Amino acid sequence: MWNELRNLTDDIDYGTPPRDGPMVTLEIDGETVSVPHGSSIMLAAASAGRPIPKLCATDMLEPFGSCRVCLVEIEGRGGYPASCTTPVIDGMKVRTQTETLKKLRKGVLELYLSDFPESELVGGWSEFHQTIIGEGVTTHPFDGSYNHFQAPIDASNPYFLFDPAKCIVCSRCVRACNDIQGAFAITIAGRGFESKVVASQDQSFFESECVSCGACVQACPSHALVEKSLFEGDYVHAESVKA
Ligand code: SF4
Ligand code: FES
Repeated sequence: MWNELRNLTDDIDYGTPPRDGPMVTLEIDGETVSVPHGSSIMLAAASAGRPIPKLCATDMLEPFGSCRVCLVEIEGRGGYPASCTTPVIDGMKVRTQTETLKKLRKGVLELYLSDFPESELVGGWSEFHQTIIGEGVTTHPFDGSYNHFQAPIDASNPYFLFDPAKCIVCSRCVRACNDIQGAFAITIAGRGFESKVVASQDQSFFESECVSCGACVQACPSHALVEKSLFEGDYVHAESVKA
């Protein structure tokens, strides 16, 4: 199944890993699609050519369900479940693009945007940027006084840097470090607004147990973790990105 999906196009991120099992048939926005039992609604929607916006999900990692961007409506079921953590069921009818869903997603993305440095939006090309642009979110109604813009950049690792101002605390780096590399070098410390990415015992990346495998950098959707080689000279702001 995974190879079949990958053959459709190498660029698609199906949001959650493939499953093997008997096929389940459901409807996504009126399109009939069949995917293996145990697949997520998110994967089924991407397979049907109806990708659902996401931030904390990627098909290289098991879903976590933290960002609340991927909400959907399911006929006969109340609420707005996260499509990345909800498995498909035979005969299920899912809607991904109702006005209510668009409004809910916009509200969530505006909150993320209120704590993302404006100077980094210009010319940004990360998955985070693509998602907010795709949903038409260009501004937010908050005063922006609660932010992490002054958090110090950790440039101690020779290959990548960590800019906490751009971190959306999606935990993809933590899961990549644990599940792909098995290094367990990154955690999320604190709760709510105080949540932050921490290397080992709140050490610099260079001093931590990080093995510089790059799995976290590859997983990061907002370029908070980013390769140094992408920048000319010192990392300062988006304009310094190499063309
Ligand atoms: S550093 Fe990147 S991958 Fe890690 S929590 Fe922050 S945004 Fe997510
Ligand atoms: S992508 Fe589903 S909750 Fe984040």
